[in-house]
Amino acid sequence: MVTHPSGDGAMFARYPSLSGRSVLVTGGATGIGAALVRAFAGQGAHVAVLDLDVAAGSALAEDLRDEGGRILFVPCDVTDIRALRGGVDLARTAHGPVEILLNNAANDMRHTLDDVDPAMWDRLSAVNIRAQFFAAQAVARDMRALGRGSIICLGSIGWMLKNSGYPVYATAKAAVQGLVCALARELGPHAIRVNALVPGWVMTERQKKLWLTPEGEREIERGQCLPGRVEPEDIARMALFLAADDSRMCSGQSFIVDGGWV
Ligand SMILES: NC(=O)c1ccc[n+]([C@@H]2O[C@H](COP(=O)([O-])OP(=O)(O)OC[C@H]3O[C@@H](n4cnc5c(N)ncnc54)[C@H](O)[C@@H]3O)[C@@H](O)[C@H]2O)c1
Repeated sequence: MVTHPSGDGAMFARYPSLSGRSVLVTGGATGIGAALVRAFAGQGAHVAVLDLDVAAGSALAEDLRDEGGRILFVPCDVTDIRALRGGVDLARTAHGPVEILLNNAANDMRHTLDDVDPAMWDRLSAVNIRAQFFAAQAVARDMRALGRGSIICLGSIGWMLKNSGYPVYATAKAAVQGLVCALARELGPHAIRVNALVPGWVMTERQKKLWLTPEGEREIERGQCLPGRVEPEDIARMALFLAADDSRMCSGQSFIVDGGWV
C-alpha cells in the first residue's frame, strides 16, 4: 500500500506483477513521464528512460538509483528512428526484453492552421505519433517472444474537446486512438495489450509555467466534474493498472483521467 504525498489520507495500490518487469518510458525525464518513471520504480520495476533532456533525465535516474531503483537513462531523440531503436536495444541489454512500453514523449507547442508548413507538420507528427508507432514496433518483437506485454500510448482530451491552438498535435493525438485499435488487434493473439491513456489537463511544471492562466483555471473548474486538479501522479496510477496483470483482459480501449471533463 502506498500513501499519497499530499497527506490527504488517500491510499494507493501496490502491484506485485510489476516487480522486476522491464519498462520503457519515452519522454520520461520531466512532467508526466517523470511521474511514470517514479511510479514504476516504486513498484520495483526496472525502468529505461529515453529523453532529449539530458540534465533532467540523468538527475532523475541518479535520484532513483540512490533509492535502490534499477533505472537506465538514455539520451535520445525519439523522432530519430535509428536512435529510438538503439535506445530500445540498450534498454533490452540492461533490463531484459521490454515488457511494458509507455509511449509518452510529445510536444504540445502552440500553433495555428496558418503557421503550419510541411516541415512543421512533419516535425510535430514525428514526435507526437510517428515515434509511438516505431517504439511499439521496436518492442513488439520482445513481447511476442515473451507471450505477453502492455503498450500504453498517451493520448489527450484536447481534440475531444475541439480545442484550438494546436491542430497538428490534436490530429496526432486523435491518431493515437487509431494506432491503439489497430495494434490491439494485431498483437492481441500474442497476449500483448495495447491501450490509450488519455489525460485531462495535468498540472505539470511546464503547463503551469507556459499555459495555465486564471482563465484556464476557471475553464478547469467549469469543465471537470471533480474538484481539485489532475496531477501527474494520477496519470501514473492508471498507467500502473494498465501495465499490471490486474488489467489482463483490457485492450484496445481509451482510459481517460480528466476529473470527469469529457
Ligand atoms: N500535461 C497535460 O496537461 C497533458 C494533457 C493531455 C495529454 N498529455 C500527454 O501526456 C504526455 C506527457 O505530457 P507532459 O505534459 O508531461 O509533456 P511535457 O512536454 O511536459 O514532457 C514531455 C517530455 O518528452 C520529452 N521529449 C519531447 N520531445 C522529445 C523527443 N523528440 N525525443 C525524446 N524526448 C522528447 C521532453 O524532454 C519531456 O521530458 C504527452 O504524450 C502529452 O501529449 C499531457
